[in-house]
Amino acid sequence: MSTTAAKGLEGVVAAETEMSFIDGTNGVLEYVGIAIDDLARQSSFEETVFLLWNRRLPTQPELDAFTKELRGKYAIPNELVEVLKHMPKSAQPMHALRTLVSALGAFDEDPNTVEPEAYRHKALNILAKAPTLVAYFARQRQGKDFVAPDESLSFAANFLYMLNGEKPTETMERAFDVCMILHADHGLNASTFTSRVIQSTLSDVYSAMSGAIGALRGPLHGGANEGVMRMLNEIGSLDKVDVYVQGKIDRKEKIMGFGHRVYKAYDPRATYLKTLAKRLAEDTGNQALYEMSHRIEVLMEEAVAAKGIYPNVDFYSATTYHAIGLELDLFTPMFALSRIAGWAGHCLEQLDGNRLIRPKAEYVGPHDVPYTPVTER
Ligand code: ACO
Repeated sequence: MSTTAAKGLEGVVAAETEMSFIDGTNGVLEYVGIAIDDLARQSSFEETVFLLWNRRLPTQPELDAFTKELRGKYAIPNELVEVLKHMPKSAQPMHALRTLVSALGAFDEDPNTVEPEAYRHKALNILAKAPTLVAYFARQRQGKDFVAPDESLSFAANFLYMLNGEKPTETMERAFDVCMILHADHGLNASTFTSRVIQSTLSDVYSAMSGAIGALRGPLHGGANEGVMRMLNEIGSLDKVDVYVQGKIDRKEKIMGFGHRVYKAYDPRATYLKTLAKRLAEDTGNQALYEMSHRIEVLMEEAVAAKGIYPNVDFYSATTYHAIGLELDLFTPMFALSRIAGWAGHCLEQLDGNRLIRPKAEYVGPHDVPYTPVTER
């Protein structure tokens, strides 16, 4: 490996953003200067998206207009419903979502425009429709009828309604809304970088969003929340946690939901999610899962906190989503539903003064190799 190449681009500043500020040493996250904790306690996902895309909080009329436009775009075209119906029931939801977001571009008569105002409306359209795509896919594979979106409901409530066929309680709506706020943006993470690279070629919003969904799916990134749930299922009970974690540490294997490229302190999103997960676990009779998670955290703290490894956003979001009643393979799609806001915001920033993102690779192979005809090889 060359000494000039930063493996994993660690520490490389590759873009400017006015959306998220992250202080990984002190565990700080702000959206446009507002502490994530304040937003989680007081804001809504709709307001947070407006904040990220406009770099200021909306007035009430602005928020009303933004929300109205979002809700008016919940429904998906009938032809796309037909595409969805032809997907295998065995397909993984992230693959379905990536494919269907890409397919949305085929239903747009002017898909390629990068003019900022038009781009915003297209991004809002994807943001509004993504929950419908996931909910429809989830019901279709269970052989259940689709539940059409309800424009009187918030982004969070409407998704849970379309998924479950009944309106969520206020507690569940608020819990899900907070999850959406916490996942909305996070600097130049792998999927956001992916979206910016695609957008920098002056490609379209559908390509940028579907490419980012693909990057998010990986187990080292957004896929870790499903990994956490699988791990909890595999461990099975509180009395088996110690042996499991010690085994992982001895074998130098990673525990999903821990560690972060930027945070070397407690991820502030995890702080909030931990409180939320605990409350929801008590309300829904899932204390055993919460207690297992907490025990894993205690053991990991003793073993690896000195290396700056703490729970990340995925760790307690797993138990939170489980308590909300989501199926395991819908956890990462939930991350995507929210992060579309961040990806689109970054793409708008990229388009403002765009320059093609094109780094270099250092060639480390041989030179002056004679060409050997195929008959002589
Ligand atoms: N469990 C145990 N040890 C860990 C963990 C973990 N989850 N994460 C990192 N480490 C250790 C590594 O073994 C390594 O130790 P060493 O220096 O003794 O060899 C050291 O910490 C550095 O690890 P890297 O993988 O080099 O750190 P990097 O910055 O590349 O990785 C990452 C960050 C990918 C998030 C990593 O911590 C990881 O794989 N975590 C598990 C997957 C996960 O939870 N991903 C979600 C991240 S948050 C998000 O994307 C939303």
